[in-house]
Amino acid sequence: MILAQGSERVPTGRALLVAQNRQLFVTFTTEKMTSSILVTGGAGFIGSHTCVALAAAGYTPVILDNLGNSDIRVLERLARISGSAPRFIEGDVRDRALLDRVFAEQPIAGVIHFAGLKAVGDSVADPLTYYDNNVNGSFVLAAAMKAAGVRTLIFSSSATVYGDPDSSPIPEHAALRPANPYGRSKLMVEQALGDLQRSDATWRIALLRYFNPVGAHESGLIGEHPQGKPNNLMPFVCQVAVGLRDKLSVHGGDYPTPDGTGVRDYVHVMDLAEGHVAALKHAEKQPGLTTLNLGTGEGASVLEVVKAFERASGQRIACEIGPRRPGDVPAYWGDPALALATLGWRARRGLDQMCADSWRWQQGNPRGYEPR
Ligand code: NAD
Ligand code: UFG
Repeated sequence: MILAQGSERVPTGRALLVAQNRQLFVTFTTEKMTSSILVTGGAGFIGSHTCVALAAAGYTPVILDNLGNSDIRVLERLARISGSAPRFIEGDVRDRALLDRVFAEQPIAGVIHFAGLKAVGDSVADPLTYYDNNVNGSFVLAAAMKAAGVRTLIFSSSATVYGDPDSSPIPEHAALRPANPYGRSKLMVEQALGDLQRSDATWRIALLRYFNPVGAHESGLIGEHPQGKPNNLMPFVCQVAVGLRDKLSVHGGDYPTPDGTGVRDYVHVMDLAEGHVAALKHAEKQPGLTTLNLGTGEGASVLEVVKAFERASGQRIACEIGPRRPGDVPAYWGDPALALATLGWRARRGLDQMCADSWRWQQGNPRGYEPR
């Protein structure tokens, strides 16, 4: 039981313990008590959607983000969706003094750690920046959590840790052989957090390996808006549909797949967001280390995505089959059975909804959070 200072109130379920002049009183309240969850990288694509899911589940998200790949105007949109904007702290996850202040200022029940860099090509060109941001950032965060006594951590890993898998669907016990510095940065953090949990069994850690997150919140108010030319398929298709780009270059039409184009496990970002809430609730129940795939268990080819997007948007997507993209894997999709068994979570939204929601966001916000 925590004792309050002065007349501060400390949540103990629906009863409140009130400490005044060294005397304790128990009062009852109808006020809703919620746990604060620190969401690093919470202004970004997956983080912002997870803030919506957290708020819907009764948590209070607190965002820490350096805005390196996001826009402060996402906060107004979050307020419109959830009724109030999350508390926002602009800063870097590698700033230990800042983290210490954040943990000291308010009770944080757990952390969802999205903050990181994610462009594979950039990680090859500038590995030290990637290791600093993704690996060092996670170490600084974990050390600050340890010092503050916060031991619940949900970490954004990636299916990229599997590299080119032997077969699909990929189970969590498959070989881990990431093919680039970005993927290796995720695996290093997974391994370090595993060591941390084994060193102190009170930690509650979930390592979530996402497959290909796409889509947007159904309101069309938040979504993904990459800076510059998109690397990923869905944002590129969206920009062709809205007239910002002439045509999609399909990276390879001669793969050993049914239509010759690459196959991936696309998962709706709101399903992913809800997966984080499920992982948090699971971690709250018992200490331990859980490693889970978050995907649909089904693959879709580039041309299937294009067709689904055309159906959802009524727009024709001009395509041209080009050469393979170096480093691309022909086909893979995840086995989500362990996530279902462990969390009771499964992806509920299909490819048509992923495309419809991406299109609603893109159409309403062709320049992202910039005014039209
Ligand atoms: P994003 O770039 O939209 O979000 C990341 C956020 O973290 C951004 O708002 C950025 O400003 C912030 N950030 C980056 N470095 C920071 C730092 N040092 N301190 C504070 N804030 C920092 O990316 P996303 O797609 O939402 O991805 C979130 C996480 O999920 C990342 O860790 C990414 O590696 C992982 N992931 C993403 C994908 C994907 O395809 N989108 C797939 C697998 C895993
Ligand atoms: N593709 C095209 N044209 C494009 C972009 C992509 O044909 O303009 C194809 C790719 O060749 C691939 C598929 O679309 O076959 C998906 O490519 P993405 O770039 O959207 O996604 P990746 O599977 O390459 O990688 C993504 C993230 C990684 C993450 C991984 C997890 O970019 O960071 O999913 O599975 F690790």
